[in-house]
Amino acid sequence: MKVLLTGGSGQLGRALRSTLAELGDVVAPPRVEFDLGQALSLTGKLDALAPDLIVNAAAYTAVDAAETDVAAARAVNAESVAVIARWAAAHDVPLVHYSTDYVFDGALCRPYRESDTPAPLNVYGATKLEGEEAVLESGARALLLRTSWVYGPNDGNFLATMLRLMAERSELSAVADQVGAPTDTGLIARASVAALRQCLESGAGWGLYHLAAAGETSWYGYAVEIARQAPSRGFALQCVPDAIRPIASRDWPASARRPANSRLDCSLFSATFGLTLPCWRQRLAEVLDQLAESHHDAT
Ligand SMILES: NC(=O)c1ccc[n+]([C@@H]2O[C@H](COP(=O)([O-])OP(=O)(O)OC[C@H]3O[C@@H](n4cnc5c(N)ncnc54)[C@H](OP(=O)(O)O)[C@@H]3O)[C@@H](O)[C@H]2O)c1
Repeated sequence: MKVLLTGGSGQLGRALRSTLAELGDVVAPPRVEFDLGQALSLTGKLDALAPDLIVNAAAYTAVDAAETDVAAARAVNAESVAVIARWAAAHDVPLVHYSTDYVFDGALCRPYRESDTPAPLNVYGATKLEGEEAVLESGARALLLRTSWVYGPNDGNFLATMLRLMAERSELSAVADQVGAPTDTGLIARASVAALRQCLESGAGWGLYHLAAAGETSWYGYAVEIARQAPSRGFALQCVPDAIRPIASRDWPASARRPANSRLDCSLFSATFGLTLPCWRQRLAEVLDQLAESHHDAT
């Protein structure tokens, strides 16, 4: 099976490369060869690549920049997704696509279900929602997976930023009035591929699902947990858990509004695929172990 993976250089894409290799040959063209900013170029490229499965992990993920870079965000998150989904439907090629908790406004007082009405607060969320709609309207056999607060053993996420800041500073602050579940790329990759295998084998189960780690916290709670868990794994931090100050979103300047409630109810995914999703704290420990090991190997 030839698997086309877009966004292979991203956080999730890196985790998916090895996991998808269990299913076949993974082709992960870089942006210069398969540019989702150029939606009109993609049909010919898909014809030439002729994949048996498409996994779209590419996205315009700069949430604040998207507020003023609307056309670029829409091209990657919506227009190109529509082209890819239509190609997948026309060629009966299965598609895995990722979306986000940011399609919701966060006003509900419980975790969001797939049946809840999206109402994005920012451009990123709005363009991701347009991408979802394009996938669903295409009629492709698709697994559409909404996830949240993505991080992995790499740079460019909250964990990496906190580890750097905590090594440099003796105190810092983090937003306490946004709640969600930090979800690592290893979990998403393994759970996606396990679900995909079942869909491919049974021919059923395609659709929209929420996929995130179990449990919930705020960005503040996440930072405190990092400060608790990292020192025992060899990370030299200046900042102890008690020196982290909870602050409100309004005190953290950002261009884009973010939902206060990012919690995703993942019971449909768990029940459909028989998969129990681990708690975010347990997964954080695992990712810190991986980071500590790679740091140790590099020194
Ligand atoms: N990050 C989060 O907290 C979060 C939360 C919820 C859902 N998600 C969703 O999860 C999925 C994976 O996110 P992630 O965190 O892994 O993202 P990421 O680390 O920012 O990676 C994005 C990937 O998309 C690629 N990309 C961006 N623009 C492109 C273009 N014009 N053409 C081709 N490729 C392009 C990037 O390639 P380059 O290396 O060339 O830039 C990179 O490989 C996305 O669908 C995202 O919306 C993410």
